[in-house]
Amino acid sequence: MIPASVIEDIRYRCDIESVISSYVTLKRAGSNLKGLCPFHSEKTPSFTVYPGTQSYYCFGCGAGGDVINFVMRTENLDYVAAVETLAKRAGITLTDFDSNSGRPDGVSRSRVLQMNLEAAKFYRQMLFNDSVGGPGRKYFLDRGLSMAAIKRFGLGYSPPSGGSMLKHLRSLGFKEEEIRVAYFAGKNERGYYDYFRGRVMFPIIDVSGNVVAFGGRVLDDSKPKYLNTSDTPAFKKSKNMFALNYAKNSDAGYFILCEGYMDVITLHDAGFGMAVATLGTAITAEQARMMKKYTDRVVISYDSDEAGQKAANRAITLLEEAGIDAKVLRMQGAKDPDEYIKKYGADKFRELIEASRGKFEFMLDGIRGKYDISISDAKIKAISDVCSYIAGIDSSVERDIYIDKASREFSVDIKSIKADVEAKRKKRNYENSKKRKGELIRITSGIGDRINPDFAKQPKGARIEEAVLGMLFIRSEYFEREVDGKGLCEADFVTSLGKRLYSFASEQYINGGFNLGMLNERFTPDEVSRVHKMIADRNELSGNDEKSFDIYVRSMREESASAASGELSLEDILKRKRGETDN
Ligand code: GTP
Ligand code: MN
Repeated sequence: MIPASVIEDIRYRCDIESVISSYVTLKRAGSNLKGLCPFHSEKTPSFTVYPGTQSYYCFGCGAGGDVINFVMRTENLDYVAAVETLAKRAGITLTDFDSNSGRPDGVSRSRVLQMNLEAAKFYRQMLFNDSVGGPGRKYFLDRGLSMAAIKRFGLGYSPPSGGSMLKHLRSLGFKEEEIRVAYFAGKNERGYYDYFRGRVMFPIIDVSGNVVAFGGRVLDDSKPKYLNTSDTPAFKKSKNMFALNYAKNSDAGYFILCEGYMDVITLHDAGFGMAVATLGTAITAEQARMMKKYTDRVVISYDSDEAGQKAANRAITLLEEAGIDAKVLRMQGAKDPDEYIKKYGADKFRELIEASRGKFEFMLDGIRGKYDISISDAKIKAISDVCSYIAGIDSSVERDIYIDKASREFSVDIKSIKADVEAKRKKRNYENSKKRKGELIRITSGIGDRINPDFAKQPKGARIEEAVLGMLFIRSEYFEREVDGKGLCEADFVTSLGKRLYSFASEQYINGGFNLGMLNERFTPDEVSRVHKMIADRNELSGNDEKSFDIYVRSMREESASAASGELSLEDILKRKRGETDN
């Protein structure tokens, strides 16, 4: 555990406003600051920073916390790594505690990063090792990679004979369990074995230059074609991209988004240093926002087969939601960019980039492929599909442009298209408002609350509990307050999250002081956000005086008592009896 005094020091020296300002453009709004939320896509700012309580909260997506929680989320770090990052920023040296403790799996991010770096060196050495690396070198050269590309991307080779990576990492002082957590070893009945064997290796490097993971490809047609590092304390697939470390420095003004590592490497080799790829998964909103940090334009260059084009369709939506102008590149005569460049060359590919189309044309292409519009029935369906698409667009200027385009495309009067679009919009709005009402009911009743699953069982009690906790976190002297002659205890709380929060915080309070930063160590970022929602809700009101506190505590006690008397097992009754005699 990191000492409370260190956490307090860090929170004191790392002013939340200045830390968040380096990620988000903040504008003053009264005594607080507002900006566009970095955790979800939005057009009007609902992300609020409260310098008074050194916290943030987004009313749009519910993310909230202190400066440590913010760094955990934005930099995708665990608690200890976030503290280390902030300590560095504040010039505090953290030598007095073991940075490996306090982690569920006992392996720290920095340990994994060290292993990754050693592994990358080892795989590279193996690739260039005369007696081992032949097959790997042959594979890369057969696929037309230049030596420069192999070196630039730090490519490597994992020897087919098992155990050599395990042996290597063990000789450097890493334990087998650590090696497994970092995905260099698997474990079965017979013990540990090398995870990557006989594969060409692609290191994945984050924007700060850390080797965070690997992809490994077989040399033939066997399956699985690729093995990739799964999530580790230093890596999340959905939050990293291949070659972003290079593409971010490109001055092309746009990125090329591909599906495969090989596509990216071939593109870079052919002079397209702005190519990136996701890591074997569909693009996520987080990745879209990561790209948006560096560019406003992305050309999607996925595989030319149907699956690739479907994925491109989803990618456009995600990218546009992140505020990126997305286009789709259309390729014929090759299955992916790698094959295309090898067949037709870089100049032809450049022409494809220039001819890449925006989402409307891309959508039209799809519809043209689906219907034979020389048949009038099919043409009516096609037009109806196009109108549905246009109806889903929020900007009226954009809608008008597409209505005009559609009318020319299908040689139909612009007024008819417009009327159809308007009718579809009305229907949509009605359905959306119905959906929103349902959602509101769901939220206020707490059904489907993943962070506090007990909420739905006792929505009334849970809401009161949130108020009590909010007040406790704002005015910590309430931890000592007696209501009706009794101090608070865990049993007064209603939900298991509430009980856990109270017992942790009160224990810290008794043991010499509690600060909100300490929650990050024991609770998930989402749970911490919930605490900050409780605080934000109470801060919006002003009734946090002693009288209000007492009223809330009384009703919370009633709620928890009535729940407890509702369905008690014999064991519970005995436990309560014992508890009463203890008092
Ligand atoms: P090759 O050109 O055949 O070397 O592969 P590619 O780079 O063109 O990749 P492909 O389009 O086949 O797949 C795209 C990406 O999906 C790859 O770069 C991998 O990240 C991932 N992928 C492909 N096959 C597998 C697999 O079998 N398992 C996993 N986990 N990921 C895969
Ligand atoms: Mn390929």
